[in-house]
Amino acid sequence: MASTAGTIGWIGLGRMGEAMVKRLLKAGHSVTVWNRTAAKAEPLVEYGASIAASKQALSSCDVVFTMVSTTDDLKEVLFGAGGLVTGSAKPKVVVDSSSISQEGSAEIREHLEALGVAYLCTPVSGNAKVAKAGKLLTVSSGPKALYDQAEPFLQAMARKVMWVGEGELARVWKIAHNTMFGVVIQNLCEITVLAEKAGIPRHVFLESINDSVLGSMYTRYKTPMLTNLTFDQVTFTPKLLLKDMDLGLAAAKSYGVAMPAAAATRESVSRMVGRGHDNIDFAVLLAETAKDAGLELKSENVKMSDGLEA
Ligand SMILES: NC(=O)c1ccc[n+]([C@@H]2O[C@H](COP(=O)([O-])OP(=O)(O)OC[C@H]3O[C@@H](n4cnc5c(N)ncnc54)[C@H](OP(=O)(O)O)[C@@H]3O)[C@@H](O)[C@H]2O)c1
Repeated sequence: MASTAGTIGWIGLGRMGEAMVKRLLKAGHSVTVWNRTAAKAEPLVEYGASIAASKQALSSCDVVFTMVSTTDDLKEVLFGAGGLVTGSAKPKVVVDSSSISQEGSAEIREHLEALGVAYLCTPVSGNAKVAKAGKLLTVSSGPKALYDQAEPFLQAMARKVMWVGEGELARVWKIAHNTMFGVVIQNLCEITVLAEKAGIPRHVFLESINDSVLGSMYTRYKTPMLTNLTFDQVTFTPKLLLKDMDLGLAAAKSYGVAMPAAAATRESVSRMVGRGHDNIDFAVLLAETAKDAGLELKSENVKMSDGLEA
């Protein structure tokens, strides 16, 4: 197998990881990738990626990025059987972009730093389509000098990169961000159902919100799916959103902050998960909200911009 010294390693080629790696490759970086389900790695070869035979094979990379699902999954790929840092060689740096808890991240930092591996938390704002368009925001925390070293790689994946401080602060940032992400979709679904039940076509209402002071990249890129009910084009699942609402409420509890809007949203998302919505986009919340209002939704079959075109 080819040496990975001096190259970037990447673990986790789900929706986000795949799109982010492609940005790095497009910017001319050498990236060696590993994914638990190997079939997801193979298509990246034509974009210039090399494939590692195991996680541990990435230990000779200078920097290894990780983008997996949960805190436990990150622990598993780093410290579990055959984990990245469990052999004699270790990467110099791990940069993690998964959305995980502050406490879990602190444990991971302690463990990595004890092994001599530097650790930067770099969660992101934006879905895979946003990542493909190079429009992610990355927000990092950890040693500032480490962030400065990683910045060129982050720039290759994002439209804007930020450092918010030491330690796990970027985890708190992401938890706060995703709490708003949940609350906004909850309210957007409620008001869209209200407007439609009163007689305003969905696409007309969403267009008006997008062009109001309340519109955002988020409301714009969810608009085609909300208009045409294409929830099978999964960007982020109800289960991942529930994980993030739980992280938000746990952080609120530990810092003593009341978050009534987030609490109500968490229950709504939990009900959606409990109804069996799994491999589907979280925007299916619109259909659930309509059902609760006795409104039967139909695709409006209108071509709407997602605002992400080049
Ligand atoms: N989707 C979004 O819009 C979005 C936006 C920002 C942040 N995020 C966050 O980014 C992270 C990834 O999200 P995603 O949408 O890319 O999820 P995803 O499509 O479900 O991908 C998850 C990735 O993690 C890997 N993985 C999970 N558990 C693992 C384990 N125990 N060992 C090894 N690999 C494991 C999966 O491998 P397999 O392929 O083998 O399953 C896959 O590569 C999550 O923390 C999510 O909350 C998502």
